[in-house]
Amino acid sequence: MRRQLIAGNWKMHKNSETARGFAKEFIKLYDFTPEVDVCIAAPFTELLALEEMFRDTDLLTAAQNMHFEDQGAFTGEISAPMLAEIGVDYVIIGHSERRAYFAETDEMVNKKVKKAFQWNITPIICCGETLAQRDQGLETHIVRHQVVMALAGLPDELVAKAAIAYEPVWAIGTGRVATPQQAEDMSKVIRDVVRVYHGDAADSVRILYGGSVKPENAKEILDMEDIDGALVGGASLDPVDFLKIIQAAEN
Ligand code: 13P
Repeated sequence: MRRQLIAGNWKMHKNSETARGFAKEFIKLYDFTPEVDVCIAAPFTELLALEEMFRDTDLLTAAQNMHFEDQGAFTGEISAPMLAEIGVDYVIIGHSERRAYFAETDEMVNKKVKKAFQWNITPIICCGETLAQRDQGLETHIVRHQVVMALAGLPDELVAKAAIAYEPVWAIGTGRVATPQQAEDMSKVIRDVVRVYHGDAADSVRILYGGSVKPENAKEILDMEDIDGALVGGASLDPVDFLKIIQAAEN
């Protein structure tokens, strides 16, 4: 049985006051359930505060990005050992916004995934096609390629521990959610390609869906057989909405 993972991605939102306010309220509301892992990907400046506030809870933290080198002359970057030092559990890698606005390539994604594992940080690897690519019928080709490249050279034991988030670019922040069947179909494509290259790791790797997940649509998406969780943007900014999505995963 794969444990569900519900990950909130705050993107470039919240400051120290609002992040702490969220954490305080969320800790009060949150009731641990053994079937679901919950993490919040906060801006770097809020990660230490969240780590400290989550210390006596089962809530986990995530970074939204990291560099693939341990240290060096990379102005503005944050490394895996820096994240590991403060106890960060997960890191989002290759989000479509990073690929589109910060020129992240499949090769960089692959290096980052390897580096995250080296420091015991679980990568949440993002993949997904643009609307133009879907309109041309290229979506499975694109997603397969992204997944194979991201996992290239990784031992199967590590692939088994990774999370892969399918986030169709056209569904991010648009309110236009993929249908549960579209999300399920692509999750199957992802699991199948993982099986081709990494064998039984395909049974353990967690595949999340992301793109306009809300309390109203979460349950029918999360009920799908090959979907093991959600990567939630906008709706993770509100503790009550985020909690409802977690509850949808529990049932
Ligand atoms: P929204 O849930 O706001 O569409 O964002 C999805 C996303 O990009 C999560 O990483």
